Amino acid sequence: MPGGPPLRLPAHRASSATLAGAYPFLVTPSCTTGVLVGTDALTEEPFCFDPWDLYAAGVLTNPNVLLAGVIGQGKSALAKTLALRSIAAGRHVYVPGDPKGEWGPVARAVGGVVVRLGPDSPTRLNPLDVSTTEPTVAHTRRLRLLAALAATALRRDLSAAEHTVLDTALSLATTSSTTATVTVPGVVDALDGPRPEPDGQDLAHGLRRVVRGDLAGMFDGPSTHRLDADAPMLVLDLSALGADDEALELAMVCAAGWLDAALTTASADGGSARRWVIYDEAWRLLRSVPLIRRLQSQWKLSRAYGIANLMVLHRLSDLDAVGAAGSEARALAEGLLADCSTRIVYRQEADQLTATASALGLTRPERDVLAGLPRGVGLWKMPGRSHLVRHHLHADELAIVDTDAAMRGTPHRPQEVA
Ligand SMILES: Nc1ncnc2c1ncn2[C@@H]1O[C@H](COP(=O)(O)OP(=O)(O)OP(=O)(O)O)[C@@H](O)[C@H]1O
Ligand SMILES: [Mg+2]
Repeated sequence: MPGGPPLRLPAHRASSATLAGAYPFLVTPSCTTGVLVGTDALTEEPFCFDPWDLYAAGVLTNPNVLLAGVIGQGKSALAKTLALRSIAAGRHVYVPGDPKGEWGPVARAVGGVVVRLGPDSPTRLNPLDVSTTEPTVAHTRRLRLLAALAATALRRDLSAAEHTVLDTALSLATTSSTTATVTVPGVVDALDGPRPEPDGQDLAHGLRRVVRGDLAGMFDGPSTHRLDADAPMLVLDLSALGADDEALELAMVCAAGWLDAALTTASADGGSARRWVIYDEAWRLLRSVPLIRRLQSQWKLSRAYGIANLMVLHRLSDLDAVGAAGSEARALAEGLLADCSTRIVYRQEADQLTATASALGLTRPERDVLAGLPRGVGLWKMPGRSHLVRHHLHADELAIVDTDAAMRGTPHRPQEVA
C-alpha cells in the first residue's frame, strides 16, 4: 500500500486443491450443464455432468469417460445413475456386455430392453450383420470382424496367408448363402470345404468355438433381435457365461460387431439421440488385443455417431496388463486412456497411487486424497479442472442399483419402476 508500513507476513502458498476449499468462489463452477451427479465435496455446490455439452463448450476434447476404483466403492452405482438420469434428459444408453447381470433392473426401470445371451436363451445375434448394402464395404467389415474373432480365439495375430484364406472363405460363404444373411457357420463350412486349405485349419478351429463350443447358439445364426432405435436403453446380459474370460472376450467381439451394425442402422434411420455406451467391468476385456483394437476404432468413431463411451476399471494398471511396455497392445490400451477426456478416480490402493498420479497427471493433494476416499466419493479430473464429488443416490435409485443384497443375505429384489 503506498505510504503504508511494509507487510511482513510471509506469503501463504497452497495448492489450488487446498485453496479451492478456502476460496470456493475461485473454483470453476461445478454445475453449469448436464445431469445432477451429487455435490462438490469441497464447496458443497451441486455437481452436474454431460459430456456432450462440455465437449460442445470446449471443456472436453472428447466425450469419453474412464472410471476407476477398488471394488465396492460405487463405480457401477455411479454409472447406473448417470444412465438413469441421462435417459431422463433424452439420452440413450447401451451396455454392450453385462458380465455380472446387474444392469437388467436399470434397463427395465426405464422401459429399456435386456437381451439375455446364453446357452439356455433362444436369442441369437449375428455378428456378421452389416448396416450397408454396398457389397465391398460389407465384405470388408465382415472380414475384419472374423479376423478379430479368430485372433481372439487363437490368442495370436493371423498370418498373411490366413487372412487370404479367410477372405476367400467369406466370399464363398457370401455367394453360396441362399439368403442375404452370411453367418459364422457358413464361413466355417467354407473353410472346411471339399479341399480345405492347410492355412485355414487353425482358423476353422478358432471360429468353430462360436459354432459348437460354449458359445453355441448365441452368435451362429441370423439375428433374432433387431435394435429398436427408440428404446432408451439396451443391455446385453452376458452373465450366463460365468467367469470364463475367454468366452466373454469372444462374446464381446461378436456383440460389438452386431452393435456396430445396429447403431449405424439406428443412426441412419433417424435415431439421433446421443448415446452412452457403457463398459462396466471393462478390466475383464482388456486382455484381448483384437478386442482393444475394435474398441479403439469404435471410440474413434464415437464423435461421428454422438456416442460417449464409459469404461469402468479397478485401477489404471489394468491397462498395463494387456502387454509389455512398448508393445502394440500396450500402446493401444494407452490410446484408450488418452481418448478419455474425463477421468473419475474412486479409492485406490496405496501401491497404485504413484502410477495413478503419473498416468493422470494428478497434483500431490489430489494423489494423497485418493487413498482415503469413502464409498461414493471420487475425484473428477477434466482438462484444466478437477472436482471432488460426493455422488448422491435417491432411495428409489438405490433400490435399482443395489449390488450388496448378497452381502446382507437378502434376496436381490430391485424395485422396478414401470
Ligand atoms: N453414493 C452412494 N451412496 C450410497 N450407497 C452407495 C453409493 N454408491 C454405491 N453405493 C452402494 O454400494 C454398493 C456397491 O456399489 P457398486 O456395486 O456400485 O460398487 P462397484 O465399485 O461397482 O464394485 P465392483 O468393483 O465390485 O463392481 C451398492 O450396493 C450401492 O448401493
Ligand atoms: Mg461394479
